[in-house]
Amino acid sequence: MSTLAPLPPRPTRRPLAPQTIQEQQSRLVSLALLLILTGPGALMLAGLLAAFVQADRTQRRARWCALLGLAGLGVIAFRWGHLGATLASLTRTTQPLLGYLQPSLITPPPPAALPALFAQSWPDVRHFWLTMLLLAPLLALYLQNTRVKTAEDRERERLARDTARAQRALQRAQHQCATAPDAAGGSLVLGVPLGGDLAWSHGAWFTYPAANLGRHLVLIGASNTGKTETSKRLAYGAARTYGWRVFYLDCKGDEATAAEFTTAMHTAGIAHVAHFPSTTYDGWRGDSTAILNRLLAVLDYTEPYYRDMTKLLLSLAVDAPPGPPRSSEELLARLRLEHLLTLYRGHPEAQELTGLRKEDAQAAANRYRSFFRALRGGLDGRWAFEDVAAGYLLLKGLELRDQTASLGRYLLEDFAHYVAVRKPPDERVLLIIDEFPAIAVGGANAATLFEMVRFRGAGVIVTAQSYAGMGSDADRILGAAGGVILHQCADPERLLPRAGLQVSFQRRISVAERGMGRGVKEYALGEGSLAVQDSLKIHPDMVKRLQPGECVVIAGGAAQHIRVSRVRPPRRSPRRSPRPPRPAAPPVTPPLITDGIALDDATRQRCRTVAARRMPPRSSPAVPSPPPEAPAAPTPDPAPPPPRAGGPTPPPEAAAPISGPAAPPSLPRPADPGGSDIAEY
Ligand SMILES: Nc1ncnc2c1ncn2[C@@H]1O[C@H](COP(=O)(O)OP(=O)(O)OP(=O)(O)O)[C@@H](O)[C@H]1O
Ligand SMILES: [Mg+2]
Repeated sequence: MSTLAPLPPRPTRRPLAPQTIQEQQSRLVSLALLLILTGPGALMLAGLLAAFVQADRTQRRARWCALLGLAGLGVIAFRWGHLGATLASLTRTTQPLLGYLQPSLITPPPPAALPALFAQSWPDVRHFWLTMLLLAPLLALYLQNTRVKTAEDRERERLARDTARAQRALQRAQHQCATAPDAAGGSLVLGVPLGGDLAWSHGAWFTYPAANLGRHLVLIGASNTGKTETSKRLAYGAARTYGWRVFYLDCKGDEATAAEFTTAMHTAGIAHVAHFPSTTYDGWRGDSTAILNRLLAVLDYTEPYYRDMTKLLLSLAVDAPPGPPRSSEELLARLRLEHLLTLYRGHPEAQELTGLRKEDAQAAANRYRSFFRALRGGLDGRWAFEDVAAGYLLLKGLELRDQTASLGRYLLEDFAHYVAVRKPPDERVLLIIDEFPAIAVGGANAATLFEMVRFRGAGVIVTAQSYAGMGSDADRILGAAGGVILHQCADPERLLPRAGLQVSFQRRISVAERGMGRGVKEYALGEGSLAVQDSLKIHPDMVKRLQPGECVVIAGGAAQHIRVSRVRPPRRSPRRSPRPPRPAAPPVTPPLITDGIALDDATRQRCRTVAARRMPPRSSPAVPSPPPEAPAAPTPDPAPPPPRAGGPTPPPEAAAPISGPAAPPSLPRPADPGGSDIAEY
């Protein structure tokens, strides 16, 4: 694992060990000798070059220096005849000076003759020292490498080298990501591995196996760190490589993500991506228990009395003859006590109804009325999870923020029912909940849902900005997750123990103090010890400094630092003739964002006919139609059947539009699984 640990602060000047002082002294001697041999000019230039080289952590300047030095050596060798003559002349003129060293062999010159001797040899000395300037780069490298370093200096250099190496690896990975294949070793490719012990790599690529994707994933990262890109890559791989259905519940409400997700699905080979709220969703599938569970997920109750009373009212409403409600209009009508009494006339439940206080029932009904009115028929549409290969559900634009959360929880409950009852057992599905905390407020009980769907072939990815943001269920959700992906975030400490610990060694050197007061000196005794200790495999600082697109994947007590590869849209053939511009589609108003669409009587009637055709056969006698309480659903559009993934990748322009009414499903709607209890999912 590449640990980009921070450099420790440089300490203030402190006493050096005797060995270090000794080394410094011998270096001074060698510098003095060099001064005489190569001259002050070469040594000063070498000093400047050494500082220049030292400032560069990448060693590039050192390499340039070595090249220049070798070139200088080459020039000297080329002009050796000239330099040789200078050296011979210098040897001749300075030979009498040897008399001071060996007076028995050579008579030394008198001191009065020395100035004349130096003046005579100066032209040769100057020529020699000027020539030595060519060796200044090599001298600089010598100075640089023989600099006396303390243990701290060496450690600092090692860390700087590691950092530079990690940065080079990251840059390489960035380039490599652009050529990432869809799959390697049969698993979807997520990106390029940069270091770690999670062995999911195949060749040069880091993969995310299907088995682990099906065991849920929690993706945490601060804003703009790459959570959505990573989710899109996983969504793309799940559809393209594993052939799963993929749904994206965007709790943040980002229109750009809608377009990108749709493009990613087109690239994966799914031609039609359902889009909510552009195309209204059918939230009324399943038996009365399933619908009751969905409705109960919508509201929060602080008072047990109101919770129990609302539960009773709702259960009576959804169980009322002739069967469960199939539209918000039908439900809201049933929540009126008088109407409910009409439905139960002659049934024993009518007795229970008379026990309900009218104003309490009215209060409960009003909460649902405001929720469904805000939706403007958004849940009375035609498509649901089982009808499409991919879908994008955008939670945005409701009048109140808590209604967005309510809608999210409603859809989550419907997803649970789809996975448990409506989905064929061998079919796999992935649900991505982007910015999960937006709907987690108020007890979504998501942890139970994740645990439940895991055994039925569904994987869930939740993204959040921080561990703390995941709410009170965080630990249970993490407990149910098979993996965690950490992008750059401020509080990774709670999650890093999941990657496990590693054995690390700590060298300790004994030191002794001598002297008193300001004269205290520290001496290394040459004794030491090696301490073995367990430390986190991933340093929290490393996670805090990840770049966008970089993340740490944690699973099964192991971790891998990776660079995520973005989904690349298919390239258009340059030889294709440009398409004629399409006629502009009539603007379609999403039902959740604007004031609903006013329906004329004919359209309303057509909707009723369609709804009646979709309803299960009614066994009980016809029911008087309730007075219209809520605006009716917008007209769903007809559309061709959505093809599954696996076919050739269609060009993006051939796919269904992402805004405006997307293609509603044409798969047959399954019969209501009557009799099953949602509690037994
Ligand atoms: N794998 C990647 N490769 C290259 N750049 C990336 C990658 N992932 C993210 N980025 C860059 O970071 C930006 C933000 O990414 P993204 O929208 O995925 O972040 P986010 O964590 O979802 O942000 P938010 O919390 O605001 O939704 C992208 O627009 C892109 O420029
Ligand atoms: Mg995002």
